[in-house]
Amino acid sequence: MKLIIINGPNLNLLGKREPEVYGSKTFNAYFDELKNKFSNIELEYYQSNIEGEIINKLHEVGFNFDGIILNAAAYTHTSVGIGDAIKGITTPVVEVHISNVHSREDFRHTSYIAGNAKGVISGFGLDSYILAIQSFIK
Ligand code: DQA
Repeated sequence: MKLIIINGPNLNLLGKREPEVYGSKTFNAYFDELKNKFSNIELEYYQSNIEGEIINKLHEVGFNFDGIILNAAAYTHTSVGIGDAIKGITTPVVEVHISNVHSREDFRHTSYIAGNAKGVISGFGLDSYILAIQSFIK
């Protein structure tokens, strides 16, 4: 089983960025924990602040991985291009958010990912990523 976590803009700042919303752990530290917890699967991680790079990564992994866990961050709410990329690939995508986007500002209630995703997990802190991985391995 080969899965990849793709994180979008500003998620490289986890640990420093709005800790009251996103917690105080860096994603690199968290990713090490994930790799230990799920040592029986191949787990990769990619982060970019650039929309086109995220689209390129989706094209690259979207025909040969078993699953994509995508936190497109702010691009979730704006990017027709990322939504179309998900439509164009065959690997299933689970949309993930650390915070509960539905309890936040109205603009966060729109997602260009959700309609093209296998499912959406939002609001469980970093555990949202664990739930997404579990959804692939059952
Ligand atoms: C986020 C929620 C988005 O609305 C926001 O723009 C982010 C992070 C989350 O993980 O809670 O950057 O995707």
